[in-house]
Amino acid sequence: MKKLILDVDTGIDDALAIAMVLGMEDVSLAGVTVVFGNTYLSYAVRNTLDVLCELGHPEIGVYPGAEYPWGQNDWLVSDHLKVIHGNNGVGNVSFKYNQRKPKNQSACDFMIEAAKKYKEELIIVNLGPLTNLANAINKNREAMSLCGTIAIMGGALTVKGNITPYAEANIFNDPAAAKYVMESGLDLTMIGLDVTLKTVIMEDDISFLKEITTVASKHIYDMAYYYYVNEEGVLGGAMHDPLAVAAAIDPSLITKWHDISLEVWQNGPGVGRIVTTGDMLVKPNKNVRYALDVNSESFKKRFKEALRKAVNRPE
Ligand code: BDR
Ligand code: CA
Repeated sequence: MKKLILDVDTGIDDALAIAMVLGMEDVSLAGVTVVFGNTYLSYAVRNTLDVLCELGHPEIGVYPGAEYPWGQNDWLVSDHLKVIHGNNGVGNVSFKYNQRKPKNQSACDFMIEAAKKYKEELIIVNLGPLTNLANAINKNREAMSLCGTIAIMGGALTVKGNITPYAEANIFNDPAAAKYVMESGLDLTMIGLDVTLKTVIMEDDISFLKEITTVASKHIYDMAYYYYVNEEGVLGGAMHDPLAVAAAIDPSLITKWHDISLEVWQNGPGVGRIVTTGDMLVKPNKNVRYALDVNSESFKKRFKEALRKAVNRPE
């Protein structure tokens, strides 16, 4: 069975991605690493612990990572993010598991250890700023090159950005780390807004959760509802992180991949923009397998089936 690490900034769509994975039978979650992003690191860690606990998996380790972007010693959550994910990062849903603690091992050390242990079997899916991944590659590139798949939810290549007109949030939140990862020479898979904006949920997609009477089902519904009502600029809630995870596990959900060489703008109004470094038709030097189209219906079907299983648990 494939082993998975989710690198999250939980975040409502991160929480939905975690829930989806817990409801899947063909993959096992080795651990969850955490980074700042949708909210502060401490909140994202708390949210991750709570979601795992509520869904019946307190045994899965949570590994805290970067608190700030590369080269910075401070970072503030924007009002824009508070609107989309709520003041606490999970749509103001409150959980009651304060006793659980994260691991002492850092996110980047856990990634390196897992890469050495599971090698080809390991899938790392980066769902927040690329800071933890950059730290792991910087610390032990050789070990990280053993991973079967490194997938990143990030980028806006053929569509507008979601945090500026040019940039997608995960790349924008740490452009220096994103540049480092993209120039690392490792094989990368990227699932960006080009496809995640095509997998949007609304009431019809989550109303089944209201028929399940567990607390977990109510909380997942409340988060998803908060998100689809508040995600700015999108009619519904785009399943950025769940789609990235599903596509990393089953690449056939993406109906059009493009092998391309990408770099990240570091300055000016276009900071965080991803652009091709050369002619799109020139094959050498490609570093990224980039998703351009998706089978949305297939994704949604799997997403809903997995959520149903995850929340339907004895309390
Ligand atoms: C990405 O940014 C975060 O807000 C979401 O959780 C997702 O990972 C979408 O741009
Ligand atoms: Ca995220």
